[in-house]
Amino acid sequence: QEIFLKDYQPPHFWVDEISLCFNLGEKGARVTAETKFRRNSKTDNALVLDGGPYMALESITVDGTPLDERAYTVSATALTVHSVPDQFLLKVVTKLDPVNNTRLEGLYHSSGNFCTQCEAQGFRHITYYPDRPDVLAKYTVRIEAEQSKFPVLLSNGNRVAEGSMSGGYHYAVWEDPYPKPSYLFALVAGDFACRNDHFVTASGKHVELNIYVAPDDLNKSDYAMASLKRSMKWDEEVFGLEYDLDIYNIVAVSDFNMGAMENKGLNVFNTKYVLASPETATDADFSHVEGVIGHEYFHNWTGNRVTCRDWFQLSLKEGLTVFRDQEFTSDMASRSLKRLDDVRILRLLQFTEDSGPLAHPVRPEKYVEINNFYTATVYNKGAEVIRMMHTLMGAETFRKGMDLYIGRHDGHAVTCEDFVVAMEDASGLDLKQFRLWYSQAGTPHLKVNITCSHGTAKLTIDQSCKPTPGQPDKKPYHMPLLVGWLDSAGNPICPNIGAGGKWLKESCLLELKSPREVFEFMDVPEGAVISLHRQFSAPVKLDHNLSDKELAFLMAYDSDAYARWEAAQQLASRQFLSEVNGKPLIDGAFEKAFHFALRDEETDPAFVAELLTLPSEIDLGQKMQTLDPAGIHQVREKLIKKLALENKEYLIKRYTKLNTGVYSLDQTSVAKRRLKNILLAYISVCPEGATYVETQFKAADNMTDRMAALQLLVHSDYENRQELLNGFYETWHSNALVIDKWFSVQALSKRSDTVEMVLKLVEHPSFSFKNPNRVRSLVSAFSMLNQAAFHISGGAGYRFLAEMIVKVDAYNPQTAAKLVAPLGRWQRLNAVAMRQMQESLKWILNKPNISDDVRELCLKSIE
Ligand code: ARG
Ligand code: ZN
Repeated sequence: QEIFLKDYQPPHFWVDEISLCFNLGEKGARVTAETKFRRNSKTDNALVLDGGPYMALESITVDGTPLDERAYTVSATALTVHSVPDQFLLKVVTKLDPVNNTRLEGLYHSSGNFCTQCEAQGFRHITYYPDRPDVLAKYTVRIEAEQSKFPVLLSNGNRVAEGSMSGGYHYAVWEDPYPKPSYLFALVAGDFACRNDHFVTASGKHVELNIYVAPDDLNKSDYAMASLKRSMKWDEEVFGLEYDLDIYNIVAVSDFNMGAMENKGLNVFNTKYVLASPETATDADFSHVEGVIGHEYFHNWTGNRVTCRDWFQLSLKEGLTVFRDQEFTSDMASRSLKRLDDVRILRLLQFTEDSGPLAHPVRPEKYVEINNFYTATVYNKGAEVIRMMHTLMGAETFRKGMDLYIGRHDGHAVTCEDFVVAMEDASGLDLKQFRLWYSQAGTPHLKVNITCSHGTAKLTIDQSCKPTPGQPDKKPYHMPLLVGWLDSAGNPICPNIGAGGKWLKESCLLELKSPREVFEFMDVPEGAVISLHRQFSAPVKLDHNLSDKELAFLMAYDSDAYARWEAAQQLASRQFLSEVNGKPLIDGAFEKAFHFALRDEETDPAFVAELLTLPSEIDLGQKMQTLDPAGIHQVREKLIKKLALENKEYLIKRYTKLNTGVYSLDQTSVAKRRLKNILLAYISVCPEGATYVETQFKAADNMTDRMAALQLLVHSDYENRQELLNGFYETWHSNALVIDKWFSVQALSKRSDTVEMVLKLVEHPSFSFKNPNRVRSLVSAFSMLNQAAFHISGGAGYRFLAEMIVKVDAYNPQTAAKLVAPLGRWQRLNAVAMRQMQESLKWILNKPNISDDVRELCLKSIE
């Protein structure tokens, strides 16, 4: 059942219009679909429609005539009508069972409401249809449901009729004037409170905005609404793109497989990315709400108006839309801090993926289950690929390319190739070699050697890329590398560059194409230091021959935030790695630089917080040949303690100074909280730490401060640890998103008894295998982020994860499959751990009835 990109064929039939009627009840839903088909080829192919195994076919007619049983065949995946005319109306009635749909795909019931999730292939669980993104049709949708239980009835587009029916039922009819693929269809019926607002577009169109949430949550929806309005304005200003319908609806549901879904005119969101108030959400949560609201809004043009020809092109809409939401957040808050967040996520999720058995190109060549390709590679590396084009051609030309892309392809289903061609045509650049970013998997590695003599600096850059599954040999990539220079006083300078480089303000753009590139800078003053990989201009790993002294200098003075932060990270990693290898640095350069950064009161406190944060255990693990999770943990904790004790007085002094003032969500306050809570983490390991942590925990008037303290409590063995943790649960037990955090902090605990704690939490009455947020809050947090606990010797962490995967899979294959990846990362572990992980994968594969989703990933992971 592998599907290949090379086998793509256009559909045999087009659909001009579809009219759907949903009669919804808790005992079941009846769906009547009337679809107008038109033959696309001169052949006499049968009509083959996609359709899943969970629905019952009740009746079928062609042009009003019921079909004889011999005229069609139904299987678990398709309906075939053996002979049809060139144009006809197919009427199909199906019966669904949304209340027992725990897969959360197609039409399902969540917290008393009906909703849908059709991307990628959920529509085939609603009716028989060509469920592929290149079939675009106009939809008319009638919804019928009991008025008292389901007062709100929504679908895509504009509401054209509504009224009451007999038996306490009512109905609404929605019409979407824009032809769309089935994955963008949506329906919601339920009891919601609504936050209403409006937006006037640049051309003067009035758009009604609604955010539907559970009645108790209305007071947590204002930030999402404000974010939506900011997104609409931003897309007009930056990309000249306006909203195109009279109404934009967002509905928040608590059972959702992903973050949110960009259905035309009716976004369905995970509550996690809508609801936020200072009492319940952290500063990071607020930022994620804004980012995801923006992301789904931006899809209206990059995804909906211009959509994908087939699912291999997923990054066409996702990579581009992630790039757009990253730019949006950068413009709303701090560009440099946003870049650090994005780089961290890329390294944590995508570099890990790219170096393991699940590595795949941004545009995959084959799949078994498309839902397994909603990955960090398609999304985040895809966004980096777009960003590199932006860097190579500059913002203005990139905008021209976007205009060309949208102008050419509006209303069509296209490919990644079409996007690159538009960018080439707008810029005049030759992106032939650049296209390898779409087809080759793996993270390229740059080795930079800098030599200086008589004022000429020679840069030799070697690029390579390790083999990935199915791709033993890699060709060299075309990529932008931004570099800069600082003179000995730390001021930016722009020495002459010969051929092959171009100064753009303070940074020089170097284009790499060959396995080895050499560049020369002339008239470089004595004592100048080079700053490499500015802005993280390409998604690569980079090594260089800069000294500790040079890194410390960059950490203190570099005007490029990424390069400055990366210098700090590398300096810390060097100190760390030498300690792990039993050669403690007596005069650690990082310790000195830490001392200096901590006392820096000029720099943005949020950035200082970043400089003071040690690389994570996972970051450090990526730098080791053989991964020693316990060793990493031990040495890192030791280093934290050393830094804390050496700077205790100043840490407490600065913490105390920052721990004042009233709560506010403005950027300056967010920045101060970020620094304050980093300082508290260092203070927490000092002898008097408990008092500071407990005081902040009890006095906090916002969730950022409360969670920061709670996490430190959970790590600790303070006396009243358990009591305070229980108290938090009692206070917040009715708020699901806060209780998710309560599960997560425990899953992330640094204590040695974390696995036992996590095992117990599965038995907790508030744990549920059916709610994806709850599963992720415990299981993903533990297995993906808590390296030391997951790899605890004996293999208990692996067995736990395997068991969770099987349990969740019985309800929800998509969410179960998202848990598999950590079990495939055995390559750099010791032989015992390696075997234990493979045993766990085998154990899963030997279970009967495992889903295709989970099987595909386990099979790949075990190889
Ligand atoms: N298109 C959505 C987004 O990124 C993701 C939904 C995908 N859902 C799925 N079940 N695979 O905005
Ligand atoms: Zn998306």
